[in-house]
Amino acid sequence: MDNIFIFDTTLRDGEQSPGVTLNLKEKVAIAKQLAKLGVDCIEAGFPIASPGDFESVKAIAESVEGPEIAGLCRANKKDIDRAWEALKVAKKPRIHIFLATSPIHMKHKLNKTSEEVLKMAVEAVSYAKSFTENIEFSAEDAFRSEMNFLCEVVEAVIDAGATTVNIPDTVGYATPDEFGKFIKTIHEKVPNIDKAIISVHCHNDLGMATANSLAAMENGARQIEVAMNGIGERAGNAALEEVVMSIYTRRHYYNKKTNINLGEIYRTSKLVSHLSGMQIQPNKSVVGRNAFAHESGVHQDGVLKERETYEIMNPEMIGIHVNNIVLGKHSGRHAFKTQLKDLGYELEGEGLNSAFDRFKELCDRKKEISDEDLIALVDSEILKG
Ligand code: KIV
Ligand code: ZN
Repeated sequence: MDNIFIFDTTLRDGEQSPGVTLNLKEKVAIAKQLAKLGVDCIEAGFPIASPGDFESVKAIAESVEGPEIAGLCRANKKDIDRAWEALKVAKKPRIHIFLATSPIHMKHKLNKTSEEVLKMAVEAVSYAKSFTENIEFSAEDAFRSEMNFLCEVVEAVIDAGATTVNIPDTVGYATPDEFGKFIKTIHEKVPNIDKAIISVHCHNDLGMATANSLAAMENGARQIEVAMNGIGERAGNAALEEVVMSIYTRRHYYNKKTNINLGEIYRTSKLVSHLSGMQIQPNKSVVGRNAFAHESGVHQDGVLKERETYEIMNPEMIGIHVNNIVLGKHSGRHAFKTQLKDLGYELEGEGLNSAFDRFKELCDRKKEISDEDLIALVDSEILKG
């Protein structure tokens, strides 16, 4: 089975969701959990965007091991220098450069001709290559770009040293059949395509981000960009849990796999939802509260007889463990720690001791401690650092 590379942009595009801002400690906590989840690359932020973004990317580069760590930049030296400054301590850094290639973006946003854009793209990739081998180039709004020009850019950035070339559907305009054909055509037209990994980055404006990503994968894309719980600009990005569980559940159809530890999906989803404040709709695929609930009598009867009658995945696979532990003043540290783990938090040492002391104080005021109480308690512990 071929491996599909999972590039997680929860901390960059995901953080661009309206109303979401994560502080440094929250971002590091999420990045550590993403590493446990087994994503191949974490896009940690956009270092030139703000001093806070720079510091977060640097802190993640310093402290998170396992995945590659990417930082986003525009196609200019200043952005690339700033990104490299944040990333250089990472064991596996990746510079991610983006530049729009569609007529509408080149004309109205960049005010550049296509010749100028092509030159900027090549210069930026060549410059970034002086810092690291690992360069991703994204042709922003690729799906609305003119095919021959897009292919010219893809070929030129690969010649300049881009190791991954990303084809975003920036505004979520594509449909699966079209997008699959689009990716296939790029593979047919670009002569040096095999020298780079082709990636896709699909937005969900029409609810087709997952379907488009999978169609692209069937037509040669080897990296899929996703965000946990599908958060991101406007209607969000392709949801990690949907893409990964589709590839897993339909593995015999696709003949592909990922490196994701499926048992960490639920925990990661909870953590991202709590820290970002982005609630998960109850009927959200895979991680929603109702994703494994069966309401009608016929369904309940079927599931009781044989789970596979109405379940194509089971909750344990993604790390949902039903336990009957009710936390209260008689609970010990082990139960406390286990409950927290199920909610996506892994506290150790001082952090655990301090949270446990505060939990016991709370137990004197409240007989039963709910998940929400625990989350509030631990979130404040993470913020305290
Ligand atoms: O949607 C998009 O095109 C992006 C790029 C920066 C990859 O987020
Ligand atoms: Zn995006």
